[in-house]
Amino acid sequence: MSDKRVFSGVQPTGNIHLGNYLGALKQFVALQDENDCIYCIVDMHSITVPQDPEELKNHILDVAALYLAVGLDPEKSIVFVQSEVSGHAELSWILTCNSYTGELSRMTQFKSKSRGQESAPTGLFTYPILMAADILLYDTDIVPVGNDQKQHIELCRDIALRVNHKYGEDTFVVPEGQYMKEGARIMALDDPTNKMSKSAENEMSRISLLDDEKKIKKAIMRATTDSDMTIRFDPENKPGISNLLTIYGALTGTPVAELETKFDGAGYGDLKKSLVTVVTESLAPIQDRFNQIRYSDELLDILRDGSKRAGEIAEPVLERVKDRFGLGI
Ligand code: AMP
Ligand code: TRP
Repeated sequence: MSDKRVFSGVQPTGNIHLGNYLGALKQFVALQDENDCIYCIVDMHSITVPQDPEELKNHILDVAALYLAVGLDPEKSIVFVQSEVSGHAELSWILTCNSYTGELSRMTQFKSKSRGQESAPTGLFTYPILMAADILLYDTDIVPVGNDQKQHIELCRDIALRVNHKYGEDTFVVPEGQYMKEGARIMALDDPTNKMSKSAENEMSRISLLDDEKKIKKAIMRATTDSDMTIRFDPENKPGISNLLTIYGALTGTPVAELETKFDGAGYGDLKKSLVTVVTESLAPIQDRFNQIRYSDELLDILRDGSKRAGEIAEPVLERVKDRFGLGI
C-alpha cells in the first residue's frame, strides 16, 4: 500500500477519446487500489471557451459515467464535479495573486488556443492557476495525466514552492506529475503529427469511447500512414504507423517490439483491420457499463456523495491557507 493522495481531472467538453483513456484514465484505475484517489470532472475549466449549457450538463454526466464505465470504483475513489466544491474557485484567486503574468504567457496551450487575439478569454490565460488550485486543494502527492499537461504541472509546483517559501514550508504539499510510458501522447488519426483531441474539427481524427463499430472502422481504415510499406515503430519517420502500434500495444498490453514481429511482412491494411477488432472489443464492455449507468439515479448519488467527501477534505486545507495569508477574521 503506497497510500498517496492522487488527484486528476478531465474536462467535460466532448466525449472521452482513446488519448484520454490511454494517457490518463487507465492510470486513474490502476492507482485506485493502493492510494487515496480523487477524480474530478472539471466543468469550470470547460467554460474557458463558450459552452452550450444543456450540452455541458450532458457532457458532465457522460464523463462521470465513463469514469465509472472504465473501472473507477466509488468505494475506492472519490468521483465528483469541480463546481460543486467552491474551494476550487477560492483557492484559485489566492494562487492568482501569487503567480506571474510572464509564466502564464509561456504556457504553450494558452499560446495555441488564444492565437494572440485580444478577444481571447481571460479564463484561458488563468486556466493553469485553476488547475493548480484543484491539485493543491487536496494536499495531492501524485497527478496522473497525459504528456500535454507537463507544463501545467510544473507551473503548479513552481507556485506551491513559491508560496511555501513565503508563507511556511508546510502551506502546500508539492505534487508530482505521473505519465504513462506508452499512451502518454496518442496522436490524431488523420494527422499523426498532432495529438488526438476532443476539439479537433475532423471526427475521423479521434476514436471516442462511445463510437460504434462503423465509425471506429472508418477512422482507422482512413488513418494517415506513409508509403514505406513496412510495419515498424519509428515515431519520427513513421508517425502514423507508430501511433497505430502504440494504440494496439496499449490496449492489448503487448510490447510494440512483439507487434513488429507479429506484423512482419504484413500490409498496412492487415494491421488496420486487426486494430479495428482490438479497439471494438476493448470498447464494448465500457459501452455496456456506460449504458447501464448513464441515466441511473445511482450516478447522481455517487456524484453527490463524491462532492460531499471532497468538500470535507478541501475545507481544512483552504482554512490553513487562508490562515497563513492572514485572510478573514
Ligand atoms: P482533456 O481532454 O484535455 O481534459 O484531458 C484529460 C486527460 O487526458 C489529461 O490528463 C490529458 O493529459 C490526457 N490527454 C488528452 N489528450 C491526450 C492524448 N492525445 N494522448 C494522451 N493523453 C491525452
Ligand atoms: N487541464 C487538464 C486537461 O486539460 C484538466 C485538469 C484540470 C486537470 N484540473 C486538473 C488535470 C487537475 C489534473 C489535475 O487535461
